[in-house]
Amino acid sequence: MTNDKTIHVCQNRTCRKQGAKEVLAAFEALPVSGVTVKGSGCLGQCGNGPMVLVLPDRVWYSRVHPREVPLVVEQHLKHGYRVIQMLYYRFHSQA
Ligand code: FES
Repeated sequence: MTNDKTIHVCQNRTCRKQGAKEVLAAFEALPVSGVTVKGSGCLGQCGNGPMVLVLPDRVWYSRVHPREVPLVVEQHLKHGYRVIQMLYYRFHSQA
């Protein structure tokens, strides 16, 4: 399939303080075929974490809570619709 994706879950200091480890674990607990989950270094958006970046879609999610991960998996990773209410305001206009 050509819709392979990689989920980058920032594991650097600031995001970790905000719960990024649990967010990474939540993604790892819900594997999706064609989707790779990776803990990443700082994504340059400290303070808005835990930050999650979906590539190649270039979709950013901010302040992700482990409870929200199943929604991202179901809606975005399985069905291709970004989760509007979780988008990172800096990179996604929600107008
Ligand atoms: S520590 Fe996560 S974006 Fe910098």
